[in-house]
Amino acid sequence: GAPVEADIGKLAPGEMMTVEWRGKPVWILRRTPEMLASLDKTDDKVSDPASDKPMQPEYAKNKHRSIKPEFLVTVGICTHLGCSPSDKFKVGAESGMGADWPGGFLCPCHGSQFDLAGRVYKSMPAPDNLEVPPYQYLADTTILVG
Ligand code: FES
Repeated sequence: GAPVEADIGKLAPGEMMTVEWRGKPVWILRRTPEMLASLDKTDDKVSDPASDKPMQPEYAKNKHRSIKPEFLVTVGICTHLGCSPSDKFKVGAESGMGADWPGGFLCPCHGSQFDLAGRVYKSMPAPDNLEVPPYQYLADTTILVG
């Protein structure tokens, strides 16, 4: 499949857009400072906090799992059996995920939970963090996926 350009210039903080790449949804989430700060809280609850597994690109091997901390770019497909996780960006009791929920994603199929960097929580059916695709910045407001 051909690489796909995403114009992220109109994404407001806290908003997510989806582009299709090789028939897969690729999410681009512009994280707020609060969303980024939540990653400190989930660090010890996720199974692969620095994405040390070999299939991750180098720029995903950090807490925010991205080239620029503000923008998460990840494939929106659960690493368990391929369902589409839902965004659960509300935090705390309002989320319906429990009072401690710091925001993230929930897979409806077997309940895998991911944080706002797509890092899978410990003891979930999904074995791996959400896939970070190959991508680069063509300009501050343009990402090329693929
Ligand atoms: Fe997502 Fe099973 S497919 S938890």
